[in-house]
Amino acid sequence: MNTNSHKKELPKHIAIIMDGNGRWANERGLKRTVGHEEGAKTVREITKHCNSIGVKYLTLYAFSTENWSRPKLEIEFLMKLLEKYLKSELNIYLDNNVRFKAIGDISRFSKSLQEMIKKSEKATKNATGLTQVLALNYGSQDEILRAIKKLNEQHLEVTKQNFEKCLDTAGIPDVDLLIRTSGEVRLSNYLLWQNAYAEMFFVNTYWPEFTTNELDDIISDYQNRERRFGGI
Ligand code: FPP
Repeated sequence: MNTNSHKKELPKHIAIIMDGNGRWANERGLKRTVGHEEGAKTVREITKHCNSIGVKYLTLYAFSTENWSRPKLEIEFLMKLLEKYLKSELNIYLDNNVRFKAIGDISRFSKSLQEMIKKSEKATKNATGLTQVLALNYGSQDEILRAIKKLNEQHLEVTKQNFEKCLDTAGIPDVDLLIRTSGEVRLSNYLLWQNAYAEMFFVNTYWPEFTTNELDDIISDYQNRERRFGGI
C-alpha cells in the first residue's frame, strides 16, 4: 500500500459515537431529554455538512443494544424523538440527495417507528450523495452473531467477503475516521469489525455543542495522519 495515497484524502466513511447529551443538559440545570433534543439538532447540522463537503458515509450511534437499560421514560422519549426526527427529515434527505439507511435490529421498535425507518430507506434508496446510516438498537457483538447465523443459514463458506455480506453494513466501506465526543475513550460495542483500521479521535466536547468547525479540524488532522494499514 502506498502510504501517501491516503494523505489529504477526505475520509469516505466517518462514524460518530454521539456522547454527552445528558451531561450537557445536567451542567445547565436542564433535563437530560433537552440534551437529546439539542443532540438531534447537531445530527442535522453534521449530516448536512458531511453531504456538502463530499463525505460518502456518515454512521451515527443513535441507540445501542445496551441503551434499553436506561429509565423507561428516557427510552420512550428517545423513541419519540427518533420518529419525529425521521418524519421531519424525509423531505430534507430528498431535497439534498441524501440516502438514509438503518443498521441494527429494529424489530424491537414500535411498528410505527419500524415503518418510518423502512419508508425513509425506500424513499431515499436512489440518492447518490451522502448515505446517513443510523445505528438503531445496534450492538456490534449482536450484529456479528446475527451475521454468523446468516452465514450458516445460507450454507456459505466462512470467508471475509461472505461474512461482510452478512453484516448490517454490507456494501458500506470500512470506517476511515471514528469520532467520540464527551471525553470518554472506549468503543462501546460500536462497529468493532468495521473500525479495524479506523483513525480514532476522542474529543471532550459534548455532542450538543459539537460543531462543523470542530469536525473540519478533525478531518484536517486525519488528513495529516499516515495510514499504513499494517504496512511500513
Ligand atoms: C449519548 O449521550 C447519546 C445517546 C445514547 C443517544 C443519542 C441520541 C441523539 C444524539 C439524539 C437523537 C438522535 C437522532 C438521530 C435524532 P448520553 O445521553 O449517554 O449522555 P451522557 O453520557 O452525558 O449521559
